[in-house]
Amino acid sequence: MARRTKVYEGKAKILYEGPEPGTYIQYFKDDATAFNAEKRDVIDGKGVLNNRLSEYFMVGLNTIGVPTHFIRRVNMREQLVRVVDMIPLEVVVRNIAAGSISKRLGIEEGTQLPRPIIEFYYKDDALGDPLVSEDHILAFGWATHQDLDDMVGLAARVNDFLSGVMTGVGIKLVDFKIEIGRIYEGDFQRLVVADEISPDSCRLWDAKTGQKLDKDVFRRDLGNLSEAYTEVARRLGVMPGNSTTMPKPKLMN
Ligand SMILES: Nc1ncnc2c1ncn2[C@@H]1O[C@H](COP(=O)(O)OP(=O)(O)O)[C@@H](O)[C@H]1O
Ligand SMILES: [Mg+2]
Repeated sequence: MARRTKVYEGKAKILYEGPEPGTYIQYFKDDATAFNAEKRDVIDGKGVLNNRLSEYFMVGLNTIGVPTHFIRRVNMREQLVRVVDMIPLEVVVRNIAAGSISKRLGIEEGTQLPRPIIEFYYKDDALGDPLVSEDHILAFGWATHQDLDDMVGLAARVNDFLSGVMTGVGIKLVDFKIEIGRIYEGDFQRLVVADEISPDSCRLWDAKTGQKLDKDVFRRDLGNLSEAYTEVARRLGVMPGNSTTMPKPKLMN
């Protein structure tokens, strides 16, 4: 037995060195945290669901030509991803007002926004991930003008894709967060969607009832989180429980 090299352990995931250079194994934990980790719990099965759901969204994005870090899922809790140079920002896209924008600007939760709104937050736990402006980002060198253009473009494409997928299964995509990283190719760099896309990083409301199917269930003590995530997975047809038969052996390369 050889011990794997842990590269990073965060609140929701662990990164291990991958089998080839330039790859990581991303392990999804069952830990749930909110309000900058002031509230925390272990939710049985959350990691398995988020691994599946993130795979589903990343594969879908790759298929329509939106580059992501995702290579392949390895097992129930782990996926192989490309190592990227993370831009230290969380990119949030909002379609309907909820959460911090409602609080900060006094907009009632559930208000349809006139157009999607993109926000940037500086990824720093000690500071509580503060909202930053494009000028902050440029002045402090977190990203260039070109990066900002590319990030806005990526965020808009992810929004179109996710909104469409969710609408198709009777869910409203209220807002979501993505993280973006750089991949270097010779003299060029490309920005790709990294980290995860899951009900941990989206607000998802049932289109008919308004029932919350995302991490707000945990943040606001609204019920059983893994039931909510299972419902999202079930509607998308990626329910782990579907795979009752053993998969055929597959050659690894
Ligand atoms: N492909 C990647 N290459 C490098 N770092 C990544 C990649 N995907 C995600 N990350 C980083 O790995 C960490 C994932 O673990 P997570 O538990 O979400 O951490 P955190 O508590 O910092 O949010 C995040 O810091 C994220 O920015
Ligand atoms: Mg994270």
